[in-house]
Amino acid sequence: KYLKEDELSEECKTLIPTLPTAPGWVHTTLYKYQGFWINSRLLQGVISCQKHFQSQHTDILLVTTPKSGTTWLKSILFTLINRTHLPPTQQNHPLLSTNPHILVPFLELKLYIEESNPDLSSFTSPRLFSTHLPYNSLPKSVQDSRCKIVYLCRNPKDTFVSLWAFANKLRLEQMGSNSLEQVFENFCEGVSLYGPFWDHVLSYWHLSLKNPEKICFLTYEEMKEEPEIHLRKLAEFLGCPISKKEDGENMVEGILDICSFDNLSNLKVNKEGKLPSGLNNSAFFRKGEVGDWKNYLTMEMVERLEKICEVGDWKNYLTM
Ligand code: A3P
Repeated sequence: KYLKEDELSEECKTLIPTLPTAPGWVHTTLYKYQGFWINSRLLQGVISCQKHFQSQHTDILLVTTPKSGTTWLKSILFTLINRTHLPPTQQNHPLLSTNPHILVPFLELKLYIEESNPDLSSFTSPRLFSTHLPYNSLPKSVQDSRCKIVYLCRNPKDTFVSLWAFANKLRLEQMGSNSLEQVFENFCEGVSLYGPFWDHVLSYWHLSLKNPEKICFLTYEEMKEEPEIHLRKLAEFLGCPISKKEDGENMVEGILDICSFDNLSNLKVNKEGKLPSGLNNSAFFRKGEVGDWKNYLTMEMVERLEKICEVGDWKNYLTM
């Protein structure tokens, strides 16, 4: 269910006219709230979860920039933390019949957008949730509790291309597609959902250095390059390391196999199913590759983006 503009709370309706605006990528205006860009529909979910979400010490929160591989990491985290009672090789594993966004709901995009105070009693410990919120805008209880944060980002060039393709899928047919050039300008200005992109990434990066017990910082590229190593690290970070016995049972391979792009994107549920919002599950699976930007961005675009992010080398960017 999607909230329509006229269903917004009075608080939101009063707040919105006071916020800076910019053109959205889909159809709505974007508003700058607490330093990041969000649409009016999501703003209500953001405010509501900031007010009401009570984090528990055992919670795990997956935080991502949009299009950085959230669907993949949701699948991996879900399979990892439930592996004892739901082995990944199990014939009726939930991932085989349920989209990862249902198994690991977004706080502000799903739980708190539908109800101002949703009933979370069906979530057993450790509860696993997800969000795109920047660190300073996380519900206070997340910052104060000992809950763990897994942060995933992706290089800005692939993130941008993925975001552009996704926004075009969300646009109504009669609206036509956004040209790449048009939205590239916006992205470079920092105007993208939950953007500026670099503010989001850098704040979590710096915090993960200061507090590695609390925040595990991962990139899509390193997960792709060395999935086994990073899956093991993730399991250790979450306090559930892969045991010798599990090694003997090829647990790591089992988790990576069920969560692979090929497996998930070819499941009936992800080919033909829809989220309650009406969005096709297939929209979350496009190519799943590193470096697809080479097929879309001109040299000028690459130079501009790298200059803004002071990248050149993505790792340098992160350590700067
Ligand atoms: P592309 O558009 O580059 O193909 P998010 O889940 O944050 O919305 O990100 C979507 C991106 O992750 C898409 O990238 C999608 O194809 C990719 N993706 C989805 N599932 C994946 C998986 N299991 N493994 C690797 N990449 C995946």
